[in-house]
Amino acid sequence: MSYENARIADVAGQLKSRFAELETKQDILKATELRALYAEIPTLAPEERGTFGKEINLLKQELERMVAEHHEQAEALAPIDVTAPFDVNTPVGDRPRLFTRDNGSVHPLMRELHTVLDIFYRMGFTAVESREIDDDYHMFGTLNFPEGHPARDDYDTFMTVQTDANGKQLIAPAHTSTMQNRVLQKYKANLEAGKPIAAVIPGRVFRNEDLDARHEHTFYQLEGVYVGKDIHAGHLIATLKTFLQEYYQQDLEVMTQPFYFPFTEPSFEFALSCPFCKKKGCNICSYTGWIELLGCGMINPNVLKMAGIDPAVYTGFAWGGGIERLVMMKYDIEDIRHFESGKLDFLRQFK
Ligand code: DAH
Repeated sequence: MSYENARIADVAGQLKSRFAELETKQDILKATELRALYAEIPTLAPEERGTFGKEINLLKQELERMVAEHHEQAEALAPIDVTAPFDVNTPVGDRPRLFTRDNGSVHPLMRELHTVLDIFYRMGFTAVESREIDDDYHMFGTLNFPEGHPARDDYDTFMTVQTDANGKQLIAPAHTSTMQNRVLQKYKANLEAGKPIAAVIPGRVFRNEDLDARHEHTFYQLEGVYVGKDIHAGHLIATLKTFLQEYYQQDLEVMTQPFYFPFTEPSFEFALSCPFCKKKGCNICSYTGWIELLGCGMINPNVLKMAGIDPAVYTGFAWGGGIERLVMMKYDIEDIRHFESGKLDFLRQFK
């Protein structure tokens, strides 16, 4: 923009070049030169005052526009990702301060999971990891929950807006049983070779729960699947009892009660004698002497069929239960929410 009045044109030139240098751009609007121009108005001949005043206003508006445009540009810049790794060439003293290596530790849940898996490896099981997003077919279909079956309502699932190829919403798995069909198919060849299918499946699961000391929306389960010839419920009970005695390093009694799951027949709720009070009754077992630990049963023939295994030739058992529950009992942890809380006071106790 050009100004007719030479004095104003001169001040405009000075202020524009100062603007480029200024750190706080709006300071340009407080420039003494601008105020001096306004102060000159009353000293001018009356007929000159109008045009002179208008030109100063134009200059002021131009400067205001420059300030506003500068701020818009700053906002349009890409945000800085503070989590981006620093440049490895930065001298050590100038790098962001990070925790030193000995400040960190393995999360107690993961450490215990490895202990649990090691026991199952010694018992001849292999491990397959579960997944954190699955489809309706694996969550329900492969597990013998027909479409519209009321047992589907027992699982308070989180669903995504996205759908799968069949138009069904994807699901954050509510249990690790979603993996049963995949594991059965994967190791089916074992059976023809005269060997059993023996797999444990650790995984993170999600439920739309009301949260309290015993319920979390995100937790871990361990699923187990065993299939072979002449396998019966005695094998199931012996397997779980052996594992639990090894994990808690003591003799325990176990108990099964009838239950219902669509994917097992018969189905059981599995309880162990309280490792704390040895069945005398304490607050951990709610003075019953028993602790309900997991769901299990003999794999429903339909589940085997859906994986291409002949239930007339092979039978098997499966179980699934929360890992936090096991660990809470081992270390007398009173609230399941500690695990996902990220509280250092909690984590440091397990270093
Ligand atoms: N998936 C069941 C649950 O989370 C637990 C379960 C029960 C798993 C029986 C099994 C089973 O494999 O056979 O409630």
